[in-house]
Amino acid sequence: MKNLLSIEELSAAEIATLVNEATKLKSERGNHSSQPLSGQTWAMIFTKSSTRTRVSFEVGVRELGGFPMFLSSNDIQLGRGEPIKDTARVLGRMVHGAIIRTFAQQDIIDFSEFSKLPTINALTDDEHPCQILADLLTVQEKLGGWEGKTFAFIGDGFSNMTRSWMWAAKKLNFRLNVASPKSCQPPADFLKLLDTDQVTVMENPAEAIKGADVINTDVWLSMGQEDQKEKEAEFAGFQLNAELLAGAADGHIVLHCLPAYRGKEISEEVLEKHADVIFQQAENRLHAQKAVLVELARA
Ligand code: CP
Ligand code: NVA
Repeated sequence: MKNLLSIEELSAAEIATLVNEATKLKSERGNHSSQPLSGQTWAMIFTKSSTRTRVSFEVGVRELGGFPMFLSSNDIQLGRGEPIKDTARVLGRMVHGAIIRTFAQQDIIDFSEFSKLPTINALTDDEHPCQILADLLTVQEKLGGWEGKTFAFIGDGFSNMTRSWMWAAKKLNFRLNVASPKSCQPPADFLKLLDTDQVTVMENPAEAIKGADVINTDVWLSMGQEDQKEKEAEFAGFQLNAELLAGAADGHIVLHCLPAYRGKEISEEVLEKHADVIFQQAENRLHAQKAVLVELARA
C-alpha cells in the first residue's frame, strides 16, 4: 500500500490487514517493538477543522518514532493560492509522508502524484477512510466482525462518511441500508459506479434500522456546508432517538464519528446511552491510523 486515499481503492484483504494490525498495535501501545517512522517527518496539511484526526495523527506519528509537522492552510502559502502541485513538489523534497484534510479529493490525488510521498486522506468531501477503519475496528471489537451483520446509516446519504461506508459494504460484503431525504441520496451515476447489491438506499429511517446491528449517523451539514442551514429542515424524522432505535436488532451498537450535534442528528439520550462505544470508536482512530502509518512505512 503506497497511499491511503479512499476506501474505494482498498481491497478487502488490505482492509482486513489494517484492522488486524490496528488490533495488535492497540494491545502493544506503550510497548512497541519497532519505531518504523524513526527519523521521519510527516506533514499534516489541514484546510478544515479537526480534533480527533489531528490529535490521533500527531500522537500516532510520535508513538511510531516520527515527528508530525502540523501545517494549517492559513499559515502556509497554499492558503494564499499557491497551487497544490507546487506545495507537493516542495514538501516531497523535504518530508517523508503527508496527511491531508481538505475539500477536493483531486487535491490529495494531485498531492500524492506530484510529491511522490506516501499520502493519507484525513477527510475530503468524497471520503473519510481513516474513520471507516476505526469504525470497523470498533465493530470487530464489539460484535466480533462484520460478516453477516446489517448496517444502517441514517442522515446525509452522500456525505464523505456515507460514501466511504458504501464502498466498505461493497468490499467487505455486508448489508448497508442508507436512509436519507431524497435530496441527499447518492445520485444514479455514483450508484452505477458502486455497482453492488449490498447497499440499499431508502427514505424511511425506521425501515433502514429494522433488524440492524450497527446504526450509524453523522452531522446533517458537513464542513463546508455551514451556509446551507435551510437543508436541516429536510432531515426532520431522521434523528437517531430511542423511538427510531426500538426496531434495531438486539445487541445493536450505535456509532457516530463525532463531532455530534445533540438534538439534531442524534438525541442526547441515545448519544449518552451509547457513549462507551462512541468514544471507543474515537480512540480507535489512533490505533487504526498507526496501522496505516506502519503499512505505508513498510511499502
Ligand atoms: N471524526 C473526525 O474526523 O473528527 P475531527 O473532525 O475532530 O477530526
Ligand atoms: N461529514 C462530516 C464528518 C466530520 C468528521 C464532515 O465532513 O464535516
